[in-house]
Order: sequence, then C-alpha cells, then structure tokens
Amino acid sequence: MQLFDVYPLNDITIVKGNGSYIWDDAGNEYLDFYGGHAVISIGHTHPHYVFRLTAQLNKIGFYSNSIKIPLQQELAEKLGNISGKENYQLFLCNSGAEANENAMKLASFHTGRKKIIAFSKSFHGRTSLAVAATDNPSIVAPVNQTDNIVFLPFNDVAALQDYFSLHGNKVAGVIIEGIQGVGGINVASEYFLQTIRKACDEYGALYIADSVQCGYGRTGKFFSHDYSGVNADIYTMAKGMGNGFPIAGIIIAPYIQAKHSMLGTTFGGNHLACAAGLAVLEVIEKDALLENALSTGNYIINELKKITQLKNVRGRGLMIGFDVPEEHKDLKKHLLLKHRIFTGEAKPNVIRLLPALNIGTKEADRLIEAINEELGILN
Ligand SMILES: Cc1ncc(COP(=O)(O)O)c(C=O)c1O
Repeated sequence: MQLFDVYPLNDITIVKGNGSYIWDDAGNEYLDFYGGHAVISIGHTHPHYVFRLTAQLNKIGFYSNSIKIPLQQELAEKLGNISGKENYQLFLCNSGAEANENAMKLASFHTGRKKIIAFSKSFHGRTSLAVAATDNPSIVAPVNQTDNIVFLPFNDVAALQDYFSLHGNKVAGVIIEGIQGVGGINVASEYFLQTIRKACDEYGALYIADSVQCGYGRTGKFFSHDYSGVNADIYTMAKGMGNGFPIAGIIIAPYIQAKHSMLGTTFGGNHLACAAGLAVLEVIEKDALLENALSTGNYIINELKKITQLKNVRGRGLMIGFDVPEEHKDLKKHLLLKHRIFTGEAKPNVIRLLPALNIGTKEADRLIEAINEELGILN
C-alpha cells in the first residue's frame, strides 16, 4: 500500500530527539527551532515526560469516557492553576481542529444561533466547521462551504463594530487566534481583542480564543489572548499540550452549562493522554517555562532586529516571525540543509520560529550566527 501523498516532504528521517536537538538516521544532529510545528513544548524525550508516560502505560493506557478517570480531574485542576482560569470547565479531545469544532458547536448550542465570525488569514483546522472558518479556499471542500461563517478583516475594529451593529443578534461566536500562526505571525491587537469582548457581551455572543498554536505558555503568558486583559468564553488548546502525544481540549467559562451527550469523543481524555498532559504542565511549572519563553523570546527578537536585511520582526515570547527579502528567499532551506537548523515558514517568505519553551540563549546564538552567515554569504 502507498501513503496518500498529501505532505510535501523534506528528504530527512528523524530517529531520535533530546531537548531541542534531533538526529537523523545517518547520525546528523539538527537544532529544532520548529518543534514539529509548535508541538514540542518541554523538549523531545524530556525525562519526566518519558517516566510519566511509561509508568501510566504499565498501569492502563486507555479506557473510555464511560467510567471515572481521576487523571482528567487532576489535569483540570493543574490547568486551572497554571492558566489562572480556575473556575473554567475542561472538555478533552484529540486535535486542534476538533477543539475548535467543539468550541464553535458549543457557542451555537449555547446561543441558539448560527453565525460565526472569523478573520482574514485565519487558520482553525481541517474538519468541517474549522476549515470553513479558515481563510484558505483551496482547502475547503464544497461540502464544507457554509454561509454560517463570516470573514472580517483582522484587527479592523470598525469592521467588527459595523458587523455587530447590523447582525449582532445572529452571531453565536467570534473565533480568533491571539497570534495568527499559519497566517504568518500576525499579532491580534489588545484593543481588537477588547472590542471583541465588548461586542460579544453586548450582543450575547461567545468569544472563542483559538490558542492551539499561540497558547500553552508559548508567548510568556499561558494564553497569548491574556495580554489584552480580558477573558474569552472558550479557549481551545492542542499542540503544546501533550509535547507530541495527541491531546487537545477546550476550557469553558462557568456560565456555559453542560448537558449530557452535547459533546463527546472516544479517545479524548484517555489515561495516557492525561498523563502526557500532566507531565507537560508539571515541567512547565517546575522549570518556569513561561518565564523562559518570554526572556529567551525577547532575546531572540532583539538579536533578529539587529539584522537589517530581515524585515518586520514580530511576535511574542517563542512565537516569532520575520520577513525574508526576495533575494534571500532560500534562507529557510539553507538553514536546514547547510546549518542543520529546523525552522517553520509561512507564505510568502516568512520564517516562523516555534521552538520548545525551554530553549536557551546558546541555541539562539547558534541560529543568529547561521542567519548572519547566510545573509553575509548571499550579499
Ligand atoms: C491556530 C490553529 N488552530 C487550529 C489548528 C489545527 O490543529 P490540528 O492540526 O491539531 O487539527 C492549527 C494547526 O496548525 C492552528 O495553528
């Protein structure tokens, strides 16, 4: 059987990882500033994570949501403490798209309405409603097209207010990434998020904070949306939550009522997934990784800003993007193939950095040196 060929692949086979370093099958070492797309939050094969998962697997890996799973409650409490959203409620699932799908569905159940506002350059996943709320027609199948999703320009306060003043009583929710990832590291302004909060309050809609990529401590606060000083009604989480183990979730404000069977999943919140989720939070807390994300992130941003060829260095904490001028458009490829440094990208010519939250200045210096060398060589 052949694999269904949907991924453009680098010709590299990774077989081993440790912290922010990974190795291919020929023994070459790579520095990981991509984290497998913002997934590796506490570093590859972190000893506490390996211990927690192994111990759990030796007890029980899975049983369904038809029985009590105390690890879910333990995870909810730890998540409440670390995120500061103690009075929210946790629903566990398996992927970012599924988290957003459930969040939008819940907004519709809660309000009895159909319209969801999303924004230009958004990415919310590939399941039916999530992909409909994603601003990329090439990945929306005809069956996913719906006029229940309305796209407005990102960070445009007036357009948002205008839409609400005309159609506010039809809006179930507004979904927004605190920092757009796939869209190219675009930071939602604090005023824009505050305006969403205000409009949702005024018209009885729910504010959904897609924190799948920008959440879980990546920006130095637990949720990047927290920089605005207002709370969302639902936060969606995935990537960094399990450090590579598939676990996702939504946290839901206390005034949104659960009803039996309104949401559900077979795999979500299983024993092994919860053990992974707990291991990640324990390391984030013990090793003060939010603080490290902020300080190392600031260090990298400052160093990048000194490189005059790079434009529009932006982001927060360890979610960083910059524009590469057309004449250096192969920079990402050269970093990977010549310097053995993995980075992310966004079209056109944006490099995205999404490393583990415990990456240090030694690794940052190696990246900066490699970029300088590349730009120097190409000049
Ligand atoms: C902001 C955001 N939301 C949702 C998703 C979808 O997550 P998943 O691929 O786990 O379904 C992604 C994935 O890149 C994302 O960046």
